[in-house]
Amino acid sequence: MERSCFLLSITFLLVLQLQLQYSSIGTVGVAQTNITTDQSALLALKAHVTSDPHNILVNWSRTTSVCNWAGVVCGARHLRVASLNLSYMDLTGTIPPYLGNLSFLVELDLGNNSFHDTLPHELSYLRRLKFISFKFNNFMGYIPSWFGSFSKLQSINLCGNQFSGSLPTIIFNLSALQDIDLRANELSGAIPKEIGNLTMLKEIYLDSNNFNEIPKEIGFLHQLETLYVQFNVLKGPVPVIVFNMSSLTTLALYENNLSGGLPDNICQHLPSLQGLHLGRNQFDGPLPSKLWQCRELLELGLEENNFSGSVPKNIGNLTIMEEIYLSNNNLTGN
Ligand SMILES: *[C@@H]1O[C@H](CO)[C@@H](O)[C@H](O)[C@H]1NC(C)=O
Ligand SMILES: *[C@@H]1O[C@H](CO)[C@@H](O)[C@H](O)[C@H]1NC(C)=O
Ligand SMILES: *[C@@H]1O[C@H](CO)[C@@H](O)[C@H](O)[C@H]1NC(C)=O
Ligand SMILES: *[C@@H]1O[C@H](CO)[C@@H](O)[C@H](O)[C@H]1NC(C)=O
Ligand SMILES: *[C@@H]1O[C@H](CO)[C@@H](O)[C@H](O)[C@H]1NC(C)=O
Ligand SMILES: *[C@@H]1O[C@H](CO)[C@@H](O)[C@H](O)[C@H]1NC(C)=O
Ligand SMILES: *[C@@H]1O[C@H](CO)[C@@H](O)[C@H](O)[C@H]1NC(C)=O
Ligand SMILES: *[C@@H]1O[C@H](CO)[C@@H](O)[C@H](O)[C@H]1NC(C)=O
Ligand SMILES: *[C@@H]1O[C@H](CO)[C@@H](O)[C@H](O)[C@H]1NC(C)=O
Ligand SMILES: *[C@@H]1O[C@H](CO)[C@@H](O)[C@H](O)[C@H]1NC(C)=O
Ligand SMILES: *[C@@H]1O[C@H](CO)[C@@H](O)[C@H](O)[C@H]1NC(C)=O
Ligand SMILES: *[C@@H]1O[C@H](CO)[C@@H](O)[C@H](O)[C@H]1NC(C)=O
Repeated sequence: MERSCFLLSITFLLVLQLQLQYSSIGTVGVAQTNITTDQSALLALKAHVTSDPHNILVNWSRTTSVCNWAGVVCGARHLRVASLNLSYMDLTGTIPPYLGNLSFLVELDLGNNSFHDTLPHELSYLRRLKFISFKFNNFMGYIPSWFGSFSKLQSINLCGNQFSGSLPTIIFNLSALQDIDLRANELSGAIPKEIGNLTMLKEIYLDSNNFNEIPKEIGFLHQLETLYVQFNVLKGPVPVIVFNMSSLTTLALYENNLSGGLPDNICQHLPSLQGLHLGRNQFDGPLPSKLWQCRELLELGLEENNFSGSVPKNIGNLTIMEEIYLSNNNLTGN
């Protein structure tokens, strides 16, 4: 009896110890990805590059330390890959799931290459990312909803690809986002009202897509400096709140199908405005009478609309103005 009890407790202790060992191996194993993990991930990327005309990746080999590879920068603290910048290198290829193992990556810039296909969802593991640029490649498909997991992301640039469909509202979970550039894709639908949650946003570029509506919630973006939604299919009036966003320096809505008039006191509420580009729409009514109050204005484009009445005389005292376009309206007088 005594003996079996003794054996039982030994067994118990052994089991406990084994469990402890096992679980510590388990957790340490996960935490202990190391620079070798980064090396494997980048070699997988190299293996997915089908054309490298300038031999950029020639020193991406086991004989050279990863941190010295072309386009790679390691962080001083963890000695892990923190930045991968292969922009403007004429590379052709696809992105392997392995790239999601670069768990210390902060910047990922693959701009101006010919990467194609879709983005693997394993990229969502890159929780430290602050900067993503895939601009001017040939990526396609919907903008994946797992973009919502980059909680530290400050800048995203997907300009010049073939992303299509509507914007997943989950990307408006990216509360640190300051710049978003989705120009020249095939995106459509309304700009989701959740964009109003991204209160750190300073720059929005959505030109050359098929967006049809700007939500009034955009007015919550008190730091927004540039709003570009040119060459889209916006229609109806611009939400009045847009003409009240005092942080704006550029409002560019050229070539849409917007209508309605401009508030007469537009300059009182947009004191920092430098560029106002509203040409090729269906705006009508008189020009704001106090345009001279927009003292920072450099470029004013109101051409090819249906504005009527006379040109405000004192517009001439905006001495720093560089370009004014008023042609093809219904303006009268001198
Ligand atoms: C990385 O970890 C693996 C095992 O997880 C180990 O074999 C390898 O030697 C480590 N590499 C470095 C550079 O520490
Ligand atoms: C690898 O190539 C890059 C650019 O071609 C160069 O800056 C870097 O010094 C090279 N690294 C080594 C170890 O030769
Ligand atoms: C990547 O390199 C290009 C060209 O050298 C540079 O313009 C760009 O700013 C770099 N990207 C990042 C994230 O630093
Ligand atoms: C890295 O990612 C690939 C594919 O996503 C996976 O198969 C592999 O086990 C991962 N881990 C390491 C340490 O390379
Ligand atoms: C980047 O690619 C775009 C589109 O292909 C091109 O217009 C632009 O000139 C390129 N930029 C550079 C610096 O090569
Ligand atoms: C949205 O953000 C919150 C807070 O940062 C986070 O807990 C949540 O997981 C995120 N949702 C998704 C789908 O990533
Ligand atoms: C936006 O913020 C509101 C509350 O301010 C919240 O209820 C909503 O879930 C947020 N939406 C997203 C997509 O984060
Ligand atoms: C614009 O701002 C002014 C105060 O700056 C406020 O009185 C007015 O209600 C605002 N208009 C809109 C449409 O939000
Ligand atoms: C613009 O809207 C008007 C009426 O609202 C419509 O007749 C016209 O076809 C639209 N133009 C374009 C280019 O969508
Ligand atoms: C321009 O506005 C006038 C009213 O001021 C209207 O009669 C006319 O039909 C409009 N023209 C166009 C092309 O919309
Ligand atoms: C511009 O014109 C307005 C209205 O006539 C006038 O009140 C203002 O003082 C002028 N500003 C300058 C700098 O001449
Ligand atoms: C210009 O405006 C007048 C009256 O405001 C209107 O009768 C006329 O149709 C307009 N012309 C055009 C081309 O829209």
